[in-house]
Amino acid sequence: MKKIMEIKENEFSINHIKNLSEGTLIIIRNSPTPHKLRNELKKKNKNLNDFYLKKKKPSTKDIKTLTNRIKSLRDNYEIPYLFKEIIEKIHFKPIKIDNGISRLVFDSKTLSNIEECDFFEKEDFKRRSPDSNTETFMPGNANIHRDFNRPHDHLQINFWFPMHDTSDEEVLRIWPDLYKENILDMTNSEENIDSLGVPAQYQLNFGDIIVFHSEHIHTSPKRNSETTRHTYELRVAYDCYDDNNHYRSNFTDFKNIKNEKNRIQISKIKKGLSPSKKKSKKETFSEEIFLSRSQFSKPSNAKIKDFINRTNSPYFLMKMVEKIKTSKDLIELAIKKAEKEKNKIPEEKYLPVNYKNRRTQIKASESIERIKREKN
Ligand SMILES: [Fe+2]
Repeated sequence: MKKIMEIKENEFSINHIKNLSEGTLIIIRNSPTPHKLRNELKKKNKNLNDFYLKKKKPSTKDIKTLTNRIKSLRDNYEIPYLFKEIIEKIHFKPIKIDNGISRLVFDSKTLSNIEECDFFEKEDFKRRSPDSNTETFMPGNANIHRDFNRPHDHLQINFWFPMHDTSDEEVLRIWPDLYKENILDMTNSEENIDSLGVPAQYQLNFGDIIVFHSEHIHTSPKRNSETTRHTYELRVAYDCYDDNNHYRSNFTDFKNIKNEKNRIQISKIKKGLSPSKKKSKKETFSEEIFLSRSQFSKPSNAKIKDFINRTNSPYFLMKMVEKIKTSKDLIELAIKKAEKEKNKIPEEKYLPVNYKNRRTQIKASESIERIKREKN
């Protein structure tokens, strides 16, 4: 099997999902999307040119403006928005996407200087909870891990790309030979890394993106006391009828990204704010926005029925039954629809192999069974 495939962005298509599911790594060469993102990052600060072009350390003040920009792009779902054309090429319903994970790495001296001044927030150095936004400054290397290592109704692919040219030493380490092998997460020690053998050999220029299945065992690029680096990762999940929140609360349905009005509401909801009370004319149907609004004013039975008809997500059907007090007839209708949709999940294709890890297994069917028990 060919382990690394190189393509141009206009060649990327739904057919590549098969390659990715077989463990092939795909490098998209020279995509305009990282360029667009970097322009957005630099927008209010020309001083950052030296950081991105020459890897020159920015001043603390420039680092502060950069972190503000990173957080604003993240909170407003600008990164998946920039990627919408690429995602569209591999689109089938339903599909969820996160808000993009920035990994900003500075040498230890710069990092301790930053930590000493009071320009920055606590969450810049340590995330609030495991599923909340990633810290702005990457404190150390990530564990050697798979994003998913347990049975789950799920298929996720990750897009990883640097914000500047990188050598083969500065790229994400992935072991395609160990794809779906029974190896679980481990600490990022030299000894553990050596035990895995040689990682995939590749190099990325600025503009290149590596795409991989989230069940690949992987870890951060090499790092030493001199390292300066800025990279991004974007995760896209298919056929995920169940909940992503146990893993990362920032995922949203791709339809909310494609529509700018929806995206604004989702940004508010994820920040813990309430969405606008009234649906704007340009807004399209979204389960998350509907359920969020229903917390402030109870929808009519007709609107609940319309929700049941429109959604194809067992997860959101069950969330609706949990969150909105409604008639027995509508509960039954929602359960019936959820079971019908659940049966469309091609389990043999999307369920990962059974790793020995018996940690939480979250399946749409389990939540339907639970709701049935509770409502009877
Ligand atoms: Fe990961």
